[in-house]
Amino acid sequence: MKHIMNPWENGVILRPWDEEDGPDMAALHRRAILATSDEFYTQAQRESWAHGLTGDGYAKSAADGEVFIIAVDEDDKPLAFCGYKGNEICGLYVDPDHQGRNIGKRLFFRACMNMFQSQPDKIIVDSSAPAVKFYEDFGYKVIREVTHDTRGGVKLHAFDMQSDLIEYSDTIGPHENRELSLMLDGKKRLAWFGDLDPVDAFAPHVEEGTICRFEWHDYTRNFYEQFKDSIREGAVIDVAAIYYLPGEEARVEEFMQAIADKHSSPGHHWERKIGELLDYPTHAIDAFIEQLQTRSAKGEVTILDN
Ligand SMILES: CC(C)(COP(=O)(O)OP(=O)(O)OC[C@H]1O[C@@H](n2cnc3c(N)ncnc32)[C@H](O)[C@@H]1OP(=O)(O)O)[C@@H](O)C(=O)NCCC(=O)NCCS
Repeated sequence: MKHIMNPWENGVILRPWDEEDGPDMAALHRRAILATSDEFYTQAQRESWAHGLTGDGYAKSAADGEVFIIAVDEDDKPLAFCGYKGNEICGLYVDPDHQGRNIGKRLFFRACMNMFQSQPDKIIVDSSAPAVKFYEDFGYKVIREVTHDTRGGVKLHAFDMQSDLIEYSDTIGPHENRELSLMLDGKKRLAWFGDLDPVDAFAPHVEEGTICRFEWHDYTRNFYEQFKDSIREGAVIDVAAIYYLPGEEARVEEFMQAIADKHSSPGHHWERKIGELLDYPTHAIDAFIEQLQTRSAKGEVTILDN
């Protein structure tokens, strides 16, 4: 299979895994482990950590609740993968030939976006010694050092790490990280993800038809074209996605129009309209507009109908 890449994907696409990916995953998993620096683990420790990795091991973990996301190139060749379960990142491995291309970061962000939808109070990671710095860069902290008995029998030290407590607001971003559960309860008819999309958390519901998904490619393309010179290197962008309950197609149309109008003439009446279409409570919409007006008075944002 050949993938058509968007420029913001930098030649790498993220997709759910398939059992057929198992052997490629095992091979890159092994290479990623063996390529870690001597600074952290001895050769014997690395070989023991990489020992016994098989293609069907991932299916066993998946049957046990682990969700895998894989990164592939345009020829669908696996370059990296991330596994998560509940609120824990179980593994993140990038082929050594492709490290430093932000693939680890993209997989990690997508895994977090998905995990957020189950509203955890924090995210936890069992980090290898070489990956501690990677997670620290995202604000994670080491809680304790642990010792693992690896598949090959040699002991290895690793680190339990965790994120700060995740806060949920009832005013600004009142549905953030709760979109899926609100939609499943019928309390929210439309959810909007402009840059990062919890695609794997929604996928089972999209598949069974309880929730519909629309990828708004034009939105992302315009955004990218407009800001490509100022987008930070390493920024993570997914195609914008709209999720909606079946039968809410007219709401989707209205929402897309409101977003387009807001971009052409920023004004708080659009923000109100958008908030209403997203089923936000009135007090949250008022609070958001008030915040925008304060920022507008300071010259941080432009609103025409202030
Ligand atoms: C750790 C790992 C997953 C990072 O993946 P990657 O694709 O190389 O990382 P990225 O390119 O996404 O880097 C993201 C950021 O982390 C930084 N970073 C990546 N690896 C780092 C490392 N080992 N030490 C310090 N910083 C690191 C990058 O500089 C980058 O920062 P920036 O966004 O400010 O430029 C990868 O190096 C790996 O597979 N390591 C070996 C296996 C392993 O230990 N996995 C973890 C098991 S839990």
